Amino acid sequence: MRTIDEVVANSPRNGRTGRSAAFGQKNYSIVHISDPHLSHRYYREHIKSFKLLVRNVIKSGFDHMIISGDLVSTGDVEDFYVTRKILSGFDLLDSERLTVVPGNHDIFGGPHRAVDVLSFPKYIRNVDYRRNLSLFNEAFTETFDGVRRVSDSSMYPFIKEAGPFTIIGLNSIPKWSLWHNPVGSNGCISREQFDALSLIAGDPVFEEKIPIVVIHHHFNHLVSDPAMRNTIFGQIESRMMRMRKLRKLLKYFADLNVQYILHGHIHRNELYERKGLQLANGAGAVCNDPVRFLKYNRLNFVSGRTTIKTYTLPIPGSNPVKVDVLQKLRKDIKIHRAAALMAS
Ligand SMILES: [Fe+2]
Repeated sequence: MRTIDEVVANSPRNGRTGRSAAFGQKNYSIVHISDPHLSHRYYREHIKSFKLLVRNVIKSGFDHMIISGDLVSTGDVEDFYVTRKILSGFDLLDSERLTVVPGNHDIFGGPHRAVDVLSFPKYIRNVDYRRNLSLFNEAFTETFDGVRRVSDSSMYPFIKEAGPFTIIGLNSIPKWSLWHNPVGSNGCISREQFDALSLIAGDPVFEEKIPIVVIHHHFNHLVSDPAMRNTIFGQIESRMMRMRKLRKLLKYFADLNVQYILHGHIHRNELYERKGLQLANGAGAVCNDPVRFLKYNRLNFVSGRTTIKTYTLPIPGSNPVKVDVLQKLRKDIKIHRAAALMAS
């Protein structure tokens, strides 16, 4: 039997009224999931977990689902086919029911075995970015039906209305670059997308409805402890897990009256604030496997008020007590590893 454990409290922006007048007081809810990393070859357990998660959120009810990238782990056609089949089986391949944006794994794939770590930097140089982005757009083409495109040359940014919300979908995956994006995992918005965001600033739809940005990359730090940022973890973050032009982007979002940013990429679920904006990371949905919990964020619009919360679902058969022990052990191991690295 399903149990829901509410772990995070309401957003500080909750209670805002006067928006979404056109939508009236009708209730609406968005489920946010990220980074399922579906792969028939490497992560069959993710397929099982993702199906279980979607089945559960359908049971609890929602109006719209958002998946903020890394739907697949390899960028292979076969994995896109598997993902389409799953979403179609749940009747979610529909623009009114689902919004997706690409993640780095959807375009570049990634190293999945120890041996791939050595060959991946060479492999990624030859990835055809345009082809793979088109493959992603085609794989989920139904979810782009009726969206408003701002640029003639790109699908992104797109604007989609969902109940009381206006969704702005962005592509934060830059092309490969030896200096700026050596393994494909850094994030950046292209100049064309910045230009397009300027064009739509002031559009009445961002006043009438609540603007939400959907983007793959994060706006927080990989390591939450500032003392750790001068260590090897900080080096890794600035070289391989960095969202570039972040402050500029936040300024553009403020001009669009953006209220919520839903993203993924760092495999954990968390709610946090930057410059007065409410952000939600949904990337711990199925990837935070050792703790054997599935997670999702839910954005609720009820009687003119919006709230966002993270929910967890225990995987059937897992023992919550053992899970707690495992989680603590994992945390301790990380701390000891970090201490050893710092001492070396
Ligand atoms: Fe990612």
